[in-house]
Order: sequence, then C-alpha cells, then structure tokens
Amino acid sequence: MCGIVGYVGTKQAVPRLLGGLKRLEYRGYDSAGLAIIADSELKIIRRQGNLANLEAALSDFDATGTLGIGHTRWATHGHPSETNSHPHIDCQGNIAVVHNGIIENFHTLRVELMQKGHKFRSETDTECLAHLIESYYQGDLLAAVKEALRQVQGTYAIAVICRQQPDILVAARKDSPLILGVAPDGLFVASDIPAVIDYTKEITILENGELVELKSDGYRIIDAQENMIKRAGIVIDWDIEAAEKGGYEDFMLKEIFEQPTAVKETLSGRINREGIVELNDIGLSDESLRQVDKIYIIACGTSLHAGMIAKQAIERWARIATEIDCSSEFRYRDTVLSERNMVIAITQSGETADTLASVHIAREQGAKVLAITNVVGSSITREADGVIYTHAGPEIGVAATKTLVAQITALILLAVHLAQQRNSLEQEFSREIAKELDALPAKLRTILSQADTFKNWAKTYHDVYDFLYLGRGIGYPVAMEGALKLKEISYIHAEGYPAGEMKHGPIALIKKGVPIVAVALRGPVYEKILGNMQEAKAREGTIISIATEGDGQISALTDEVFFIPRSNEILASILAVVPLQLLAYYIAKERGCNVDQPRNLAKSVTVE
Ligand code: M6R
Repeated sequence: MCGIVGYVGTKQAVPRLLGGLKRLEYRGYDSAGLAIIADSELKIIRRQGNLANLEAALSDFDATGTLGIGHTRWATHGHPSETNSHPHIDCQGNIAVVHNGIIENFHTLRVELMQKGHKFRSETDTECLAHLIESYYQGDLLAAVKEALRQVQGTYAIAVICRQQPDILVAARKDSPLILGVAPDGLFVASDIPAVIDYTKEITILENGELVELKSDGYRIIDAQENMIKRAGIVIDWDIEAAEKGGYEDFMLKEIFEQPTAVKETLSGRINREGIVELNDIGLSDESLRQVDKIYIIACGTSLHAGMIAKQAIERWARIATEIDCSSEFRYRDTVLSERNMVIAITQSGETADTLASVHIAREQGAKVLAITNVVGSSITREADGVIYTHAGPEIGVAATKTLVAQITALILLAVHLAQQRNSLEQEFSREIAKELDALPAKLRTILSQADTFKNWAKTYHDVYDFLYLGRGIGYPVAMEGALKLKEISYIHAEGYPAGEMKHGPIALIKKGVPIVAVALRGPVYEKILGNMQEAKAREGTIISIATEGDGQISALTDEVFFIPRSNEILASILAVVPLQLLAYYIAKERGCNVDQPRNLAKSVTVE
C-alpha cells in the first residue's frame, strides 16, 4: 500500500520525510520519492527499489528546504519503475503530488487533459492529478486542489506542493486514510501514524472529503462545501510496533479488518454506471475470451479455495466447463490443453513456484494464461498473457485473509464478464450482481462489528484436538478455507470436507463434543446440509454454524450460530469466510500462538 508523508516547519524537510518513509516500510513498497521546495525551485528525487537506493541518491541532492512531500509506492497502475514512482508533476514542473488510492476515471481525465495539450510521462493514475490541479491553478493551491478533486472518482489521500506557494502544503482524502501530526517544529500529514511517531504523538484524523492547508505556523481544515472544521486532536500512547499494526494486536487482525477496503478497491473502476463489468485492462481481448471453450484453474493453498469458488461462478454464470487443480499436481500430470483453453493462475504473491511452473506448461501447450495476483510486477505477471490485479494492498500476516476476499471479488467480476461476453446471463441478473458486489463492504463491516462473538467462542473451543468443517456447494470451499486457517495458525487438526462425503468415511471421527463447523448458507443445497448436520448431531458432535440472516430453522440444530447478511449465494462465500477467519484467529490467540508468523510457514513458497 502506498505511504504518504508531508512536512512543513522550521527544520530541514528531507530527514523528516525520509524518517517518516522508513516508518512506513512495513506497508510494503517497490519505489520511493521525495519533492521539496527550496530556493524557489521544486526539486524531485525518485528511485525504484528500497529506501536505501533513495537515501544513497540523496547525497547528490540539494536538500535544504523546510517543506516537502514523500512517498513509498506499491504499484497498482503501471509497473514498478522510477518513472512511475511518486511524486508526479505537472507539465511545467511547478506542482508535485503524492497519492495513495485509485483514481477510477483516470483514463477519461488523461484523454481530456492530453487533448488540452498536457504531456504525460508515466503510466500511473496519479499523474492526472498533477495536470488537473495545474489546469485549475490561479495562485491559490487549496482552491485548485478542491476544484480538481471535484472531477475525480475513486479513492485518494493526497499531498500537494506548488513552487509558486513555497510555504503551503495541501492534503485531502476520500476513502484512503490521512492523518495530521502537530509537532513542536512543524506540521506533518501522513497516511499512517508510524510516519510521524518519532516527531509527535499529537494526531488529528482527517475525515472523508476533507482538505487541509498546512503552513509552518498553523493549519485549517475544510470540507468539500468549504465549511471550516474544528476538530480536537488526540494524543496517542502507542509505541512504534502498535502504530504499525494500526492499534490492532497483530497484522492478521488488522488485515481481517481491512477486508471491506480490499473488496472496494478491487471493484474500483470495474463496474460501469449501467452495472456492466468492464475489464478493459486485463490484456486479453473480448474476442479471445469469447473463444475460450474450457478453463483450467490452478493455484495453491488459500488461492486454491478462491479458485474453487470461481469454478462454481464461471460454470453457473458463463457456462464454460472449468477444471481446478492444485499447481503441484497440475504440473506433473499429463494435461491435455489446446489454444482454445484458458488457464487461470491464482496467486496473491505472484511468486509461488508450483504455480509458475504450471503456467510454463500451459503456455507450452498453447493455452492462454490469465493471472490473478496482488503484486504488480511479480513473476507471474511476466509469464501470463493477461492479468487481473487484486487491490488488497500488501499482506504481512503469513495467513492469507484480505488477499483471499480480493481474489474472490476479482474472480466473480471475471465470471460475470465472461457471461456478459457470451450473453449467458440475463442483463437484469448481472446488474443485480453488480449491485450486490457494491453492497459487500458494508455487509463485511457488519460482520466485523461482531468480532467479539468469536472471541467468546474461542474461550470454549480453544483446547480441543480436532475440528471438522463441513460445507456443500459454495459452502464447501469456504469450509476448506476455514479448516486451513485454523490449522495454520492454531495448530489444531482441522478437516475441511464436502458434507455429503461424510457418510463415506469421516463420520467415524464424530463423537461427543467434537466441534463441527457447518457452513449452512441459503441456496440449492441448503436442505442437504441440514440433513448432514442432523447426522452429526445424532452422533453427539457439537455443531457451530454459519447461516444466513433470517434462517429460522437452523437454531434447533446447532449449538452456536453466526448469521451473515443475506446476499447472492456465490457472493455469500466472501461473507461466510470472514467469521471463520475470526474464529481461527481468536482460537490461536487463546492458545498463545504467533498468528502473524506461524511455525514452519513462509508467506510465499518460492521453492518446490
Ligand atoms: O501467493 P500465493 O497465493 O500463490 O500463495 C499460495 C499459498 O502458499 C498460500 O495461500 C498459503 O496457503 C497461505 N499461507 C494461506 O493462508
């Protein structure tokens, strides 16, 4: 996730900006840059790679200004490179902008600005902000930023400086975090508290739609209607470790709570006003997608579970036969692929060795490869014919959480897109899905607001030896993921199983008190899973269920139940997986486990 820091005060800006960026390194980044105003000049320095590269280059940089902005970039639009790194500037080199978020309508803005003579240097969505602000600038930076932002759709936290007003820094936010820090020697803006924690603990959180103008002797906050906002600051007592985790106990918990944003950002700019899914930038033409006659999905671990959900969505909506395999099996079996087949390779890191090897094989046999990944510029993006990026931001906890919900979101968009290409879905129905996708972040927030339920359940269930997770239909991959999460972070043996298969063997495991987590969502196989729950109850298992709001039947069959908001059955997988992440998390915490770095596991498995 990009990190922003800005400073205006009485001390040299560069050491403060660099110090702030170092504190934001934990968020992950691929390049970094700074802009300062000194001697009536706007000076910029940017480097690809880690901050050490930027720091080394600073020895030749005249760095005497007391106002500046800095940025660490996590690529979303345009590959990691010096040209794409921030700050971005306007045509004249007077205005510099750093940005965190996604400008959804950047393509339209870019074309309009180019028609007016603006020359673009980078592939980023951010650069259009610098040009747009330039086009409105008439001596008042705050007014120009305000006007420019009226044209912008999407999410942003920005900081802007202008050579003609060397004592002013303007910042603004919408749906991306931004804080103001008040230090004895000046004022800071930053995307996150760690960036300022070495200089001040006095923080003001900016709200959506607000802009702030900073000078060395004070600041003013206004909202979009230009009302002056007075807001008392808070004094935080966090140390740096707590600040990096945003006040959460662990990165994993922070990332679980970031899931509404991960879904929102992954959807951003991909559904038009008519409710049509637009995947224009994936690198595969609509025509080539229409020719696909069979799909193979390959992935590992949690990404494989996203693939299992995608298989159901693609077969149901786009009516394309779809097979799924874990990459470590696919690469060694004698697959028969053709040019009309498409391989969807799902990997959050883009670096998983087995998935990369499988992609090689698929390409050798002439199949098209579409990658779904969270990391721009990762190895898979160079191997695949097309890419759909998830925009979950970097994931630090070893256990995948927010990248999973972003993958499912991207894959649902793909399934609807494929269906639209083939006219296999009623337009009204696909618009309905688009609406439901849009409603997901709010529904996720409702689930997260009940996290204490799982904390309480964990007190009861943390010291058992075995768990069974059962599901059918869309509930099956959700159950598999719930079991994987519990295994990897709590070290409790957990078995994820298709509930209908129980009587073919695993039912022998059920005895008094064995916890059975049943994913019992409304849908075509709902009655079937109720039957399986009855079988488990008859053998004195303890039933914990994830059910759909308004389900009046389930309570009689279950010892504990958590209701998720109503939604389309396929989309409900996103909602149902979150309670299982929380259950695994709190059980692991209750057992005293290190959830961010579980034993024997690596975040990215780059060897076979
Ligand atoms: O980076 P990838 O998505 O390719 O990683 C795949 C698996 O290694 C990964 O999902 C793993 O199972 C996680 N630890 C699950 O939490």
